[in-house]
Amino acid sequence: MAQKQILLIVGGGVAAYKALELTRLLRKAGVGVRPILTQAGAQFVTPLSLAALAEDKVYSELFSLTDEAEMGHIQLSRSADLVVVVPATADLMAKAAHGLAGDLASTTLLATDKPVLMAPAMNVRMWEHPATKRNLATLKADGVAFVGPDDGAMACGEHGPGRMAEPAVIFEAIMGMLAGKSAPAIAQGPLAGRRAIVTAGPTAEPIDPVRYLTNRSSGKQGYAIAEALAALGCDVTLVSGPTALSAPTGVKRVQVETARQMLAACQAALPADLAVCVAAVADWRPADEGAVKIKKTGDAPPALKLVENPDILATLSAPGPARPRLVVGFAAETNDVEAYAQAKLARKGCDWIVANDVSAPGVMGGDDNTVSIVSATGVERWDKTAKSDVATRLAQRMAEALA
Ligand SMILES: Cc1cc2nc3c(=O)[nH]c(=O)nc-3n(C[C@H](O)[C@H](O)[C@H](O)COP(=O)(O)O)c2cc1C
Repeated sequence: MAQKQILLIVGGGVAAYKALELTRLLRKAGVGVRPILTQAGAQFVTPLSLAALAEDKVYSELFSLTDEAEMGHIQLSRSADLVVVVPATADLMAKAAHGLAGDLASTTLLATDKPVLMAPAMNVRMWEHPATKRNLATLKADGVAFVGPDDGAMACGEHGPGRMAEPAVIFEAIMGMLAGKSAPAIAQGPLAGRRAIVTAGPTAEPIDPVRYLTNRSSGKQGYAIAEALAALGCDVTLVSGPTALSAPTGVKRVQVETARQMLAACQAALPADLAVCVAAVADWRPADEGAVKIKKTGDAPPALKLVENPDILATLSAPGPARPRLVVGFAAETNDVEAYAQAKLARKGCDWIVANDVSAPGVMGGDDNTVSIVSATGVERWDKTAKSDVATRLAQRMAEALA
């Protein structure tokens, strides 16, 4: 298949910095990015950053003799498979809705014969202003597709709709449109109508009222997966052990401490189409949780008797009407990673095991991960990448598996 190409118009809003991350994601996926940076956009990101990430020249001027000689503005507007506006400011939306063509970005939007996707970003009052609402309705009627905006805290300190969709979400919308999906399908996401349970973080198993057994899991990978699934339109329940992380946007979080509570919360969240067990669940717990603090007696230290915890992954994978269609487990190992993962796949009855080598420095608690996907069809090794990238790729895979 020929390389897909997008024309990326970067408007003048604080969210313009996210266009850089989007460019990185697109290039990594092999999509060509030809950037147009508006004058206001250049107040927020530099042409150099955009050009370096896009690996292409940045176009900014309508009246540029050099650019017109190299690639005229009409040719530029047709040079891609898709035109994407990130961020779509109130000003750019107004210009496009009214057919204004006073600069390169708006002229391109008027001259293009390609589909257009906009990711709006603006202050909540600007977003809710009747003028923006009218422009939005006009653009939708003209066939422009939209991704976002989200509800949330904004750079201006206000809260509400107007925050630009995350780059991973815009990326998915772009890939969907390049694959020929319609605007409404894009707006909803490929996992719209699906339910997922994601477990994350460690568990804490009490020894007595003040002490507990736990592990070094930060919850970052599980939280990133919950967020990536929600970004694809999935209804996600995140069952989380104790972590320092805040709940991802658009995800329902249930906070638990012990493995038994985690299992109960997962069972309460059924039925689900998808279960992703990322949590580092303690294999064992102290047999007796003392009602009072264990005191030093001067004798030998007390022996800690352990009993086995319930196996959440095996329970959710067990055949039956409540089994999610796709059950994915994580295996954190320090040695013989893939062999253990294959054995775990068979033992637990799940569909995929995502194996990660936690002996590598910085994986537990860090931001990067190196994983292998083990399934009945074999082993696929992914290069070391950010946990957010692992999450985006996995979410996409899960969406494809459930399609
Ligand atoms: C600090 C700052 C942040 C801004 N953020 C936004 C924004 O998020 N969304 C928006 O629509 N306009 C925003 N504006 C206003 C736009 O920059 C202004 O309307 C500009 O003309 C838009 O240019 P464009 O059409 O190239 O996007 C902001 C302005 C400033 C000074």
